[in-house]
Amino acid sequence: MVLAPIKTINKAKFVINSDIMTDLSAKYLGLTLKNPVIAASSGLTGDIKSIKKLESNGIAAVVLKSIFEEEILHQVRKKIREAQEDSMMYSELSETLDYIDLHIKEDTLNDYLNLIRQSKKETFIPVIASINCITDYEWIDFAEKIERAGADAIELNLFLNPTDQTNKNFEETYLTISTKVVQKVGIPVSVKISPYFTKLAKVITDLSSTGIQGIVLFNRFFSPDISLEKMEVVPADHFSHEYEYLNVLRWIALLSKKTDCDLVATTGIHSAETIIKQVLAGATAVQIASVLYLKGIDYLSTLLKDMENWMEDNNYYYLSQLQGKLCQESVANPAAYERRQFMKHFGGIE
Ligand SMILES: Cc1cc2nc3c(=O)[nH]c(=O)nc-3n(C[C@H](O)[C@H](O)[C@H](O)COP(=O)(O)O)c2cc1C
Repeated sequence: MVLAPIKTINKAKFVINSDIMTDLSAKYLGLTLKNPVIAASSGLTGDIKSIKKLESNGIAAVVLKSIFEEEILHQVRKKIREAQEDSMMYSELSETLDYIDLHIKEDTLNDYLNLIRQSKKETFIPVIASINCITDYEWIDFAEKIERAGADAIELNLFLNPTDQTNKNFEETYLTISTKVVQKVGIPVSVKISPYFTKLAKVITDLSSTGIQGIVLFNRFFSPDISLEKMEVVPADHFSHEYEYLNVLRWIALLSKKTDCDLVATTGIHSAETIIKQVLAGATAVQIASVLYLKGIDYLSTLLKDMENWMEDNNYYYLSQLQGKLCQESVANPAAYERRQFMKHFGGIE
């Protein structure tokens, strides 16, 4: 896909101490961010030391490492198995089960709430909590606790396994969870989704009218690979590659003007140029993880400097000048974003 060359628009400049300043500030979920770069939920946002390092290198906000409903349930089951093996469970089986269940959940949840409190106390950046939920039961109540702990927003990391072959209506579950959480809390709620839906555009627009304020496109998942040397299944690359941003770019460009909420780009964003492309497509912010693992948290300052330099070189002084400038509604050839098949006219390949 070849996008039109970027032309200079508004040449307004603002001058502080005779230096030309570039204003990278962005709005996401109603929060004012000093720039559009958010640390995506990952191990880098799972402890206070790393969160502070992200802040000192210029990150605009952090999405904390997700608390996983499945992981907690798995731990509960494991403890129950261990208890059964130790013959700890006699007649008061249900009481023991309840104890294990409550104990593990409370410990994990309290650790998470403490990380929120500590991050709010020790940094000045917005802190977004992340819940990976697969049901709409007690997690809804947990959202309230997250709000009370001081989080600025909640990101719901929603993923129902697409290999499930039952007739469950997944789309309905996503909408129900989102609606229920929005009704419970006063802070903004965003939803992070995968690209694996039959009617992705409909899911995104329907989700955007549940009252959530942002959608994060798209989560990237663990992939298995096969090792020919070991003849066994091994984990594929944990980290994204820099060309993986294209599918996200397409969907942001297609839907940023058709949704009632912010769209945030994640996956494959490794350079200032890619951040600028996502903003041009209509993203209000971006979330990054792999590039920080691969190049170190210090690389953030380079990313931000490169963004400023690009904007100055191209006579843009406010990020808002770029936002959505090349979304589907604003380009000369809107069909370019929808085209899927290679054709000579678009791909230039016979
Ligand atoms: C090591 C690692 C851990 C991650 N953990 C989470 C998580 O707990 N919750 C979540 O929503 N996404 C998680 N992600 C996904 C990232 O938030 C991000 O959306 C994804 O990696 C795509 O961005 P990237 O290409 O910049 O890595 C994780 C990614 C990595 C690499």
